[in-house]
Amino acid sequence: MELTNIPHLASSSNFFFSSCSRCSCRGRRTEKAVIAVSVAGIRCGADSACSEITEQQNLDSLPGSKNSRCYRRRDFAAAALIPFLLPRVDMASAAESYDASIIQNGARNVLSKVKAAGVLRLVFHDAGTFDVAEKSGGMNGSIIYEVDRPENAGLSKSLKILQKAKEGIDQIQKVSWADLIAVAGAEAVALCGGPEIPVRLGRLDSSIADPVGKLPEETLDAVALKTSFRNKGFSTQEMVVLSGAHTIGGKGFGNPNVFDNSYFKVLLEKPRPTSSGMPIGLPTDWALTEDDECLRWINIYAEDQAKFFADFQDAYTKLVNSGASWRTA
Ligand code: HEM
Repeated sequence: MELTNIPHLASSSNFFFSSCSRCSCRGRRTEKAVIAVSVAGIRCGADSACSEITEQQNLDSLPGSKNSRCYRRRDFAAAALIPFLLPRVDMASAAESYDASIIQNGARNVLSKVKAAGVLRLVFHDAGTFDVAEKSGGMNGSIIYEVDRPENAGLSKSLKILQKAKEGIDQIQKVSWADLIAVAGAEAVALCGGPEIPVRLGRLDSSIADPVGKLPEETLDAVALKTSFRNKGFSTQEMVVLSGAHTIGGKGFGNPNVFDNSYFKVLLEKPRPTSSGMPIGLPTDWALTEDDECLRWINIYAEDQAKFFADFQDAYTKLVNSGASWRTA
C-alpha cells in the first residue's frame, strides 16, 4: 500500500494541515513514519484502516501546551516514547519530506527570551563533545543521555522545554534531537536579537552517550582552551566568537536577554567589573583576555558587532554540523 501524505504548514500561521491518500492527500510518507503516526493514535477519520494524520492542528493544541486536550495526552505520551522504542536510523530517515518551518515553529512556540540562554548552552553541550581525532561525539542528540553529568547541571530544564516542542513536531514529522537542538539554538539567538542562522537538517541521533570529559572545564587557561577547541576542529577565532554566546544568560555580560557584543566590551573593561558585588563571567571568559591572539579577536568583536554576528553565524553553523551523521534519504 502506498500511503501519501505530507503535512503542510499554512503560510503566515501556525496551522498544520494534512490529508491522506484515501481522502485528498499531498506528498508521500514512508511506512515507517506511518507506523509512528499510528502509534500516536491519530488516524484518518474517513477510513479507520488509514494511518494518516488528518486533523488541522495548531501547535497550541499539541502536547505540553496549556490548551492540550486531555483525551490526547495518552496519545502524546505514546508518541514521546517512540524515539526510545525504534532504532535510530528508522527514526531519522522516516520522513521523505522534511519541512524546516515545522521544526522552526515548533521551537519558537516553546522558546522565550528567558529560556533562550539555556537552549543555546544545550547546543554547545551536545556538539562540544566532538573529538576530530577520535571521530567521536558531536551534534548527535546524545545530550539526552548525559544530563546527569556535572558539566550539564541545569540543562535538564532546557531539554524539557524542547521535549514539549519535539512531541508536537513528532506528531507531524519526526525530528531528531540533534536537528531540534540545532534549530532551537539558532532560534534562541535570533529571538534575543542576534543573527538569523540557517540550519541544515537531517542529523541522525546517537542511541548512546558520548565519551566523558570532552567539554572544556571553566578553570582552563587560554592555552588549554585553545587545545580543547582545536581537538574539536575549531580555530582560536572560532573559539572566541563562540564564547560570545555568554553575552546572554546569567553570567552578567550586559542584558541577559539581548544577544549583542556586550560580552567583548565587558571583557575589555578595566578594572574587571562586577555585577552587584558578584564576579562577572567565568574564569575561562577572562582567560581569553590573557592571550594575545584571543585578545585581538575580542577587540575586533567589541568594535564591530556586525562582524561578531557574521562570524558567530559561521562558527555556529560549524558547531551544529560537528561530527553529525546525516540522513541519506
Ligand atoms: C569556552 C568554553 C566554555 C565553557 C568553559 C563554558 C562553561 C559554561 C558555564 C560553567 C556556564 C554557567 C552555567 C550555569 O550558570 O550554571 C555557561 C553558561 C552558558 N554557556 Fe558556556 N561555556 C563555554 C562555551 C560556550 C559556548 C561555545 C556556547 C555556545 C555557543 C556557550 C553557551 C552558554 C550559554 C548561552 C550560557 C548561559 C546559560 C544560562 O545562563 O542559562 N558556552 N557556560
